[in-house]
Amino acid sequence: MTQTQPVIRSPLSPERALLRVEDVYAGYQDFDILKGVSLHVHEGEIVCVIGPNGAGKSTVFKAIYGFVRIRQGRVLFDGKDITNWKPQQILQAGISIVPQLRSVFPQMTVYENLELGMYLEKDKRRIKERIEYVFELFPRLAERRNQLAGTMSGGEQRMLEIGRALLLEPKMVMMDEPSAGLAPLITRAIFQTIRELNEKIGLTVLMIEQNARQGLEISHRGYVLELGRNTYEGNAQDLLNNPDVRRAFLGGR
Ligand SMILES: Nc1ncnc2c1ncn2[C@@H]1O[C@H](COP(=O)(O)OP(=O)(O)OP(=O)(O)O)[C@@H](O)[C@H]1O
Ligand SMILES: [Mg+2]
Repeated sequence: MTQTQPVIRSPLSPERALLRVEDVYAGYQDFDILKGVSLHVHEGEIVCVIGPNGAGKSTVFKAIYGFVRIRQGRVLFDGKDITNWKPQQILQAGISIVPQLRSVFPQMTVYENLELGMYLEKDKRRIKERIEYVFELFPRLAERRNQLAGTMSGGEQRMLEIGRALLLEPKMVMMDEPSAGLAPLITRAIFQTIRELNEKIGLTVLMIEQNARQGLEISHRGYVLELGRNTYEGNAQDLLNNPDVRRAFLGGR
């Protein structure tokens, strides 16, 4: 095991996980895309879902977050059954998201983008406190607080999205392809940031990644999704070493 590899501290049972997705069926119109997806995320873990284009990765994300209706199965979070809750209720329950498509408001400053991220909070002092907390975690954003978000680099905008996801003190953050559209060096920096947040503040992350190898390298555990079902799962290091997973998803031999 190389030095950059995360270590699972203790093998925990799925029953005690923070997020439990159990045998979920969901899709669009009358057609199921997800045909029995099960996964779990423990507090303090980074979990990565990999799989080919069209496998249903984003649909898993949308089903958990109430954007796509779950027809069968259930989603439990922090002891509550949140199956088919509305996105805003799920946010209030403690899950925030970084979506696959860019979501900063380009004509607003970094600070204004963060303020908007706290629209649920009425207490002005708390809004300020939380924004300053995000600036502490991301000094690059602090330096650019008055810059229009649209004029920042792709990597900086991605950091802003991640920072914004942390404002409401979520218990878990879901990220759909945090590396999407970023150059390789920037991708590495974003993954490093996610890893550091996990180590520094114990951030729990459920992440979807096309960039399977790098995604798994910073994760504790992983799942492979194919044709709407999870086919492999386990310790991220084991998945990275699994010959079948390597051949099919990691461009390895
Ligand atoms: N709004 C929609 N209406 C109908 N079908 C959809 C819709 N969104 C996605 N699909 C279909 O669902 C399937 C899974 O899509 P999904 O976006 O979940 O895949 P993905 O694994 O995230 O792929 P990618 O790696 O390209 O992001 C695809 O066949 C896609 O065409
Ligand atoms: Mg997707």
